[in-house]
Amino acid sequence: MAEYFGDVLSRAMSRRSVLKSAIFGGAGLTLLACGGGGVSASPQPLTFRTIYPNTEDKITIPEGFNHNVVIRWGDALDIGSNLDWNKIRSQGVDSNDVERQKKCFGYNCDFVGFLRTQDGKSLLVVNHEYCNPELMFPVPFLSRNAPSQGRPTEEESRFMLEAHGLSVVEIRKRQDGSWEYVKNSLYNRRITGSTKCEITGPARGHRLMRTYYDSEGTFVYGTLNNCAAGKTPWGTVLTCEENFHSYFGGNRNNIPDDLVRSIHQRYGVPGSFAPYYGFMNLKGESGKSKFNINDEPNEAFRFGWVVEVDPMDPNSTPKKRTALGRLKHEAATYAIAPDGRVVVYMGDDERFEYVYKFITKGKYNPNNRQANMDLLDEGELYVAKFKDDLTGEWILIAKCEKKPDGTYAITPNPNLPEPFKSDPVLCFINTRGAADALGVTKMDRPEDIEWNPLTKSAWVALTYNERRGASGQPGTDRANPRPNNVMGHIVEIKEANGNPASTTFTWQIPILCGDPNASDQNNKLIIYGQLASSSTPAISAPDNFVIDRLGNVWIATDGNPSSSRLRKNDGVYVLNPFTKEFKMFLSGVPGCEICGPEFSDDWKTFFCAIQHPGETDTNEPNSRWPYGDNVQVPRPSVIAVWRTDGRDIFA
Ligand code: FEO
Ligand code: CA
Ligand code: CA
Repeated sequence: MAEYFGDVLSRAMSRRSVLKSAIFGGAGLTLLACGGGGVSASPQPLTFRTIYPNTEDKITIPEGFNHNVVIRWGDALDIGSNLDWNKIRSQGVDSNDVERQKKCFGYNCDFVGFLRTQDGKSLLVVNHEYCNPELMFPVPFLSRNAPSQGRPTEEESRFMLEAHGLSVVEIRKRQDGSWEYVKNSLYNRRITGSTKCEITGPARGHRLMRTYYDSEGTFVYGTLNNCAAGKTPWGTVLTCEENFHSYFGGNRNNIPDDLVRSIHQRYGVPGSFAPYYGFMNLKGESGKSKFNINDEPNEAFRFGWVVEVDPMDPNSTPKKRTALGRLKHEAATYAIAPDGRVVVYMGDDERFEYVYKFITKGKYNPNNRQANMDLLDEGELYVAKFKDDLTGEWILIAKCEKKPDGTYAITPNPNLPEPFKSDPVLCFINTRGAADALGVTKMDRPEDIEWNPLTKSAWVALTYNERRGASGQPGTDRANPRPNNVMGHIVEIKEANGNPASTTFTWQIPILCGDPNASDQNNKLIIYGQLASSSTPAISAPDNFVIDRLGNVWIATDGNPSSSRLRKNDGVYVLNPFTKEFKMFLSGVPGCEICGPEFSDDWKTFFCAIQHPGETDTNEPNSRWPYGDNVQVPRPSVIAVWRTDGRDIFA
């Protein structure tokens, strides 16, 4: 029987099999046992020749590699037709297009997860974070900051709701190393901005989770702004709701309940982009819009969660796991503690927000998939405090346990003030507010966090924060050391004893991003405290990571094109934490960010998402990538990259 990807991964990462691959792989990797049962790897250099940031309207990869487009926005997952992209752009959408979008690959692909099914099939799970109506629909439309009259139309808003969410799609490798998706696979599925999701964990049923269409507070239609994500060892995906506030409109001052108003304020609800999507104009039979906070003040509390999706069961209901806290979640990635508990690392992506982790009460059972399916409903939620002496502490926000009657016993941190003491469910709904009260470290936009089993540390991407040190804003600290941090940086959390469930750690900054040749000292590239040589590729705005079998850290960026940064396309870079080599592996196209770096389970293919190609915030795209089929609009797509000699990507 084939195994779930997670089982394969945990076995691959076990010390025994790493040793085995070191011995039999002939790769020159030697491992030494060290304190706390850890392993360390001796250097194995990066073999590919670096590329450099550029502005070309094509995907650039090193010599000896090839790539292809696997799936694009609008490609049909069923046997039906693809979206008619040119018609949508020239004439707009009608109800048939809305129906087709429910069955076609969504817009702005972000997270990409490769999973193996029990029957040996390859799946991709891909998030669809947001939409670019100014590039999808007829002009003149609007830019995000300047909505135009009468747009989006109701059908455009409905269409966008269905273009959000995520896709599960079966893929297969062709003889030549390229990949294609399988139309009409039984695994293929769209989960969208209108799919029914269940609310689980401590916030289920709380008064703030009840709405006019769900008086019990147990389900919600839709998942939105699914940015990055993580895979669990039991073969599910934790898709993360990030900038959910963008979809809500209305006037916060007209909400009578002080608590509701203050939590919405802390999370920026309603968002200034609400007119761009127009969801608050979509009214149900009641004549109300759930996206208008004056019609329904509580709907926004039902977004901002980590949502667990089981891609192995196309009929499964996505579950919003409230024990993991409500944030603008970038991602949720796991590590297994030596005692079997599961640790989930999470970044809250906004300027001056925090780094979190959740530790399950129960233990991962590698022999019984079903036994793991509700592990994420009970445990301890922590937030990180980074101290200037290079140590740090995970501060407990709250612990939750299920009682026999299905209700929750919640123990909040005793230092929390009211109303968290008397209504501790608020620790999960207003997680930001609870963290504020605990005096933890405000970071420079925490994005992805990945546990690296070879360095036994958690890598945290801090994308940038140009407001650090500005008038009226927090100043620098040692973990966020640059004022006007336009380039971003990476922090490495070394958990005590190499155990991800530890509550103390030490930390360091492997990379302060930038250009080695920048004239401004603040914007130079610094690697492990050393100014990078002038031939090192420039990097800014680190966003998502994937770790390869040798412990190399692959970094995808979202922000290189900005005029305050590199004025070059975003890309994928690799840091070898043992040799300290740093190279650029891939460059995207104008306007895009790169997301979802991922490997196939045989390490021979690298996948990533080319999100929002051509985006300029105007009606005029600066790229129409991936071109082809006589289509005149850019289409966000997932690509595959492989070595032409058939070896592992990092060999
Ligand atoms: Fe959606 Fe934090 O990037
Ligand atoms: Ca991201
Ligand atoms: Ca981003």
